[in-house]
Amino acid sequence: MTFSTQVVHWQKTHGRNDLPWQNTRDPYRVWLSEVMLQQTQVTTVLDYFPRFLARFPNVGSLAAAALDDVLGLWSGLGYYSRARNLHLCAVEVMGLHGGAFPKTAQLLQTLPGIGRSTAAAIASLCFGERVAILDGNVKRVLTRVLGFDADLGVAANERGLWDEASRLLPSSDLHHAMPRYTQGVMDLGATVCTAKKPNCGVCPVAKSCVARGLGQPERYPVKTRKLKRSSQSIWLLWAQAADASVWLSKRPAPGVWAGLYCFPLFDKREALETAVPARYRSALQDTPAFTHVLTHKDLYLHPVRARLPTSAMARSEGAWVAADEWPGVGLPAPVRKLLALG
Ligand code: ADE
Repeated sequence: MTFSTQVVHWQKTHGRNDLPWQNTRDPYRVWLSEVMLQQTQVTTVLDYFPRFLARFPNVGSLAAAALDDVLGLWSGLGYYSRARNLHLCAVEVMGLHGGAFPKTAQLLQTLPGIGRSTAAAIASLCFGERVAILDGNVKRVLTRVLGFDADLGVAANERGLWDEASRLLPSSDLHHAMPRYTQGVMDLGATVCTAKKPNCGVCPVAKSCVARGLGQPERYPVKTRKLKRSSQSIWLLWAQAADASVWLSKRPAPGVWAGLYCFPLFDKREALETAVPARYRSALQDTPAFTHVLTHKDLYLHPVRARLPTSAMARSEGAWVAADEWPGVGLPAPVRKLLALG
C-alpha cells in the first residue's frame, strides 16, 4: 500500500471526523477554520468558530461588517493580522470573485491571508484538488517518514520538501481521497506523530518510516536557523473612572496590536506620568509586571493603575469605555486579562 492509501484508510477510522468545520465542502467554513487553526489550538477554535459563524454566517455578511466588529469577535485568539486579512479577503471574494471563493489553490493563494498551505487545504478539502499542504504538523510527519534530514531553515530544502509532499499525494479517486488524505496527514501529526514522544506503536506507516527505523524520530524535522527574538518593556496606563469605565485608545498601524483598543502604552514610566495631570500622579499604583510572548518578541508589561476623574484624560487620545462595553471590543489578550481581574 502506498503512503497516501494508508493515510486515507487510517483517517476513516482513527482520524478526527466530528469537528464542526468538517463534513462540509463549504469553502467559507473551511477557510474560516483553517485561518483560525493556523496559530491556535483546536480546543480554543472549538469555542470561537461557532460564535463567529453565528454572527457572520457567510462571506457576504463578513465583508459587509465593520473591521472593529470582526476584531471584537477575534479578541483573545491573538495574531490579529489574521482577523484583518480575513476581513480583507471577504471583501475581495465579494468584489473580485462575485461572492464565490475561487476553486483552485493557485487562485486562492492570491487572496489576503491565504498562503500556499492554507490555499491547498481549502482546495483539497472542498474541491478535491491534488495539491499538498505543508504546515508544522505535516512537515513533522513527512520529514520522519522520508528521513528527510536537510535543514528546513534553508529555502531550497523547504522547496524540496514541498516537492516530496506533492509526490506523495493520492493519484486516483481524488474527489474522495484528497479531503481524507489532507485531513489524515494533519490528524497523524496532531495526534500520533507528535513533536515529543511520538506514539509509533499506533502509527499506520510505522513500518516504512525511515526516522523510526533509525531510532530517533524526535530528531526530525531539522531546522537550525533560530528566530531572532527581542524583548521590550512597556508601561500601561490602566485608568479607571468612578463609574468603572476605562480609558482605551486605538492602536495605530503598523505596530503591535494594530487596530485593537488598548490602555495607553509608554516606553518609560516617566512618559506615562507625563500623560497624567500633575495633581493626579500620586494616584498612580504599580501592579506586578508580567511577560507576554509575541512571535518575535517578549513584552514585559508594567500596568500602572489610577482611579481618575473623567476630566483627567481630556488632553489624551482615546475615550472612556463603559464597563458593559469593553468586553465586546477588540482588546489585546493581556489587556483583557487585566480588565477581567477588575
Ligand atoms: N489544523 C489545521 N487545519 C486543521 C483541521 N482541518 N483539522 C484539525 N486541525 C487542523
